[in-house]
Order: sequence, then C-alpha cells, then structure tokens
Amino acid sequence: MSSPPDSAIYIPDMQSLPSRVRTICCIGAGYVGGPTCSVIALKCPHIKVIIVDVNPLRIDAWNSEKLPVFEPGLDDVVRRCRGRNLFFSTDIDAGIREADLIFVSVNTPTKTSGVGKGFAADLHYVEACTRRIASVATSSKIIVEKSTVPCRTAASMRTILESNTSETEDGKQITFQILSNPEFLAEGTAIRDLYNPDRVLIGSLDTREGKMAAHALREVYENWVDGSKIYETGLWSSELSKLAANALLAQRISSINSLSAICEATGADVSEVAHACGLDARIGPKFLKASIGFGGSCFQKDILNLVYLSESLGLTEVAAYWHQVILMNEYQKSRFARKVVQTLFNTITMKKVAVLGFAFKKDTGDTREAPAITLCKSFRQEKAFISIYDPKVPREQILLDLTEPGVVDDFEAVRAQVTIAPSPEEACRDAEAVVICTEWDEFAQKAEDEWRGIYATMKKPAFVFDGRGVVDAQTLRKIGFRVHTVGKGPQIIDPIWA
Ligand code: UDX
Ligand code: ADP
Repeated sequence: MSSPPDSAIYIPDMQSLPSRVRTICCIGAGYVGGPTCSVIALKCPHIKVIIVDVNPLRIDAWNSEKLPVFEPGLDDVVRRCRGRNLFFSTDIDAGIREADLIFVSVNTPTKTSGVGKGFAADLHYVEACTRRIASVATSSKIIVEKSTVPCRTAASMRTILESNTSETEDGKQITFQILSNPEFLAEGTAIRDLYNPDRVLIGSLDTREGKMAAHALREVYENWVDGSKIYETGLWSSELSKLAANALLAQRISSINSLSAICEATGADVSEVAHACGLDARIGPKFLKASIGFGGSCFQKDILNLVYLSESLGLTEVAAYWHQVILMNEYQKSRFARKVVQTLFNTITMKKVAVLGFAFKKDTGDTREAPAITLCKSFRQEKAFISIYDPKVPREQILLDLTEPGVVDDFEAVRAQVTIAPSPEEACRDAEAVVICTEWDEFAQKAEDEWRGIYATMKKPAFVFDGRGVVDAQTLRKIGFRVHTVGKGPQIIDPIWA
C-alpha cells in the first residue's frame, strides 16, 4: 500500500472504472443469469461473457446438450455462442478477476428463519458473492444487481465493498460502482422479452462515477435495444420499481381472482368480465386471466419483501394493503381445492385424482411456488391417490416438491400416494377427476376425440376442474364430463353445480 502523505486528508489514488465493457462475468447460472447473459453474448459478439456458479452440476448442464433451464429459444442462443464468447465455469474467482462488469444473479429466497422470517429476502447469497468480489478483484469493476433484492441492498453491497477494497499492483485503490439493473423477463417468454424488452432500467448513484458506470452498461444494451427504451434512474427508484412492477402485476391477478369467486356465486363469466373491463384503454387486457392463483419465484417473494419493507418503515396500512394480494392468492388456491373435494361428494379419500400440469405456468419446467404444489398437498391430506402429468417438470422435482420436509417417512409416503404419468391419458386412466393446473398448449389443443378417449377410461361421473380456463367446457360436457371452470357460474349452464 502506498503510504499516505503527511498532509491532513489522504485521498487515495483510485484506479478508474472501465469505461467500456469488454468482459462480463455473471455470478449465478440460474433462471435469470443464464438466459440474460446468454442473450448478451449473442447480441454482443465483441464482449466475452463468463457465467459462473458454485454448483458444478448446474455448470456441467449448461455445458451439455441438456440445459438446466427450459426456456423456448434458449438452446439455440447457447448453441450459437458457447465456446465463442460465452463460457460457463465454476471458477468464480477467475471470472471476477477478468471482468469489467459483474452481474450478481444469485438466488434471494424468502427467509425461513430469524428476523423477517417468512417475509424478508434472504440476502446471504448476495452478501457471500459481494465479499468474494471484494476479496479477489484485482482491478476496478462495475457491479450490477440483477437478482430481485429489497430496496437499499446496493447500499449494503457498497458498504461491504468499500470496507474490503484492496489495491492494484501499481498501488492504486480499486473502486467499485454499483448499479441496479432489474430483470423484467417472464419465464416461458424470457428470450423474446430479452430480445425486445419493454424497458431496460438502470439505477445508479447520482455521481459522476455512478453515471459513467450506468453509461457503460447502457452501451452494452444499445447493441440491440433502442436507446429510448433504456431508462436511467436513481438506485433506490430502480430497486423499488422491480418490486412495484411485480406487485402491481400480481395485484391484477388477485383482483380478477377475487371477482372470479363472485362470478362463480352469481352465474357471471369472469372471462367476459375481464374482457369488458380490459376494453377500457386505462385498464387494458393483460394480466386479467382468472386462474387457480399465481405462482413463480417472483410475485410472492417480491410482495412479501414490499410488506416487510413497509412494516419496517412503520407503514402498517401499506403493508396490510399489499399483504392482501398474497392472502387472496392463498384463498384462491384453497377455494379451488375445496371445490374439488366438495364436488366429489365431499371426499376424495382413496380416489384417484389426475393432475395435468405441475409447472407454475406453461413453457417452463420451473415449479417454484406453483399452485399445483398447494393443491396436491391438500389432496394428499385428503388421502387421495394423485397421478400427475407435466411435459417438462422432471419426476424427481415433483416428488421433492410434494415431500414435507422434516416429516418422518414422508419420502416413502409421497411415493406411495403420488405417481408420475408419462401422458395425460395415463394420468387420467381410472381417475374420478381431472384437475388442470398449468395452461400447457397440449391441454388446450387436445381434440374432442382425445377427450372422448380419456372419458372412456375414467370412473363416472367424470369431472374436469379447469384451473386455467383452457378447455372448451361445452365440448367436454357434450362428451359427458362434468366441468368446473374458474370464474364461471354453474347455475345457468349445468344444474349439477348449483
Ligand atoms: C413475473 C413478471 O411477469 C416478470 O416481469 C418478472 O421479471 C418476474 O415475475 P413470471 O413469474 O416468470 O414473471 O411469469 P408471469 O407470466 O408473470 O406469471 C406469473 C404467474 O401468474 C403464473 O403462475 C401465471 O400463470 C399467473 N398469471 C399470469 C395468472 O394467473 N393470470 C394472468 O393473467 C397472468
Ligand atoms: P434465479 O431465478 O434468481 O436465477 P436460481 O436459483 O435459478 O435463481 O439461480 C441462482 C443461482 O445462483 C444458483 O444456480 C446458485 O447455485 C447460484 N449461487 C448462489 N450463491 C452463489 C455464489 N455465492 N456464487 C456463485 N453462485 C451462486
């Protein structure tokens, strides 16, 4: 370390930040980091992109023909760039050292213990990786928060980095600039969203260095995104905008789901109500599809974060307001599960229930917070036999999701009660009811004859509970099914539901 001059104030000789990004390291090869940085590699062939992860199995999978994340279009992107300017590695330190810019894309699950349990985000992965950057970096870097994080995480990262900085070989102090660049991609359409984002948000400190770092990141995106879509804000606005966007989207779903309960009780049709409301340009048609409830890794986690933040700020009413969005989602799932049991003459004990779709939405193999998990767990409690078919979720993942952690012998119990079927037809054979949990195209596009075949193999009366509004209820009723669709009133159409 160069010794401070004798004068009163010591101003360290800082190594300047990279003004152009030539190498990017992404820490965390998950659903966010993997697709995002693969697309950056595709669109910026002059930039070297290294995606690193602590999990060697994940990295092996990224380097194989079977990627660890199913996302339409992703295989093609990876195939075109891997080995050219896109690399997957477990050598985190080498990735950090080589990079001008580092995306932090590690997981931030909801805390399951300690202060903020059940609400606050668990930031220990973010902290571990920030400390790692501080300890191994040998040059100044731009650090970009990509993971969804609570507001002011950048401030904590900055404190850690500034308290642990070292020097370059020629005695200059290493500097870090932190940016917030939240990801707005939705699973299933991630590649499309990355190619053509509604907006790219870059939050930075309002300082010369902060703005320079934001500019360097802007230049990366400008390789394919129109500059007018890149919106620069302050750090805190950017962090809060991510939580706010997800909360507003989830709020729409809970709102329409609350109306679906009224529709079912009155004979109104929620899709007609949604359409009628969505025609108002101020409301718009998107995110108004009633369902068995929203899932996914973001909505619940981000709202819980917002609730925790509001509580921490003493804003109790604000916290209660957003918490209601989650409570409505829980209500929707349990209401649907209750409907199944009540309709099957108040018991599903020892009955076979076929579950079609396990992922939290179509075109993904992700099951985080999938409504199917809540439903199947409640069917398990009712002692039903459950047969599940999903085109993308691996068998072991389903069984893992349905095993109660800490319950003795539950591993075996799940396997006795739950079977994974190779096709919808096999799942439905001898079943009393079909419960549709994911809107996979193959369910929506099933031909009348195929449903007729399924009907023939089921116990009678054969019920269909459409949690996603994907099947043509009239056609199925013609075959003989008794059909319940979320948000469609029964009285007028079919007296059995009255
Ligand atoms: C969401 C946000 O859309 C995305 O911007 C953010 O970056 C991450 O979180 P994702 O969770 O991948 O993306 O999927 P999304 O399409 O938003 O769906 C979330 C859940 O809401 C799914 O379970 C989906 O089935 C459900 N949903 C969505 C509805 O029930 N009704 C709708 O109208 C829309
Ligand atoms: P997301 O949906 O936010 O991408 P994932 O769980 O799919 O979340 O991915 C996060 C990835 O981050 C995981 O593969 C995990 O192994 C990785 N990870 C977590 N902590 C670290 C760390 N300190 N260093 C490197 N990788 C990490």
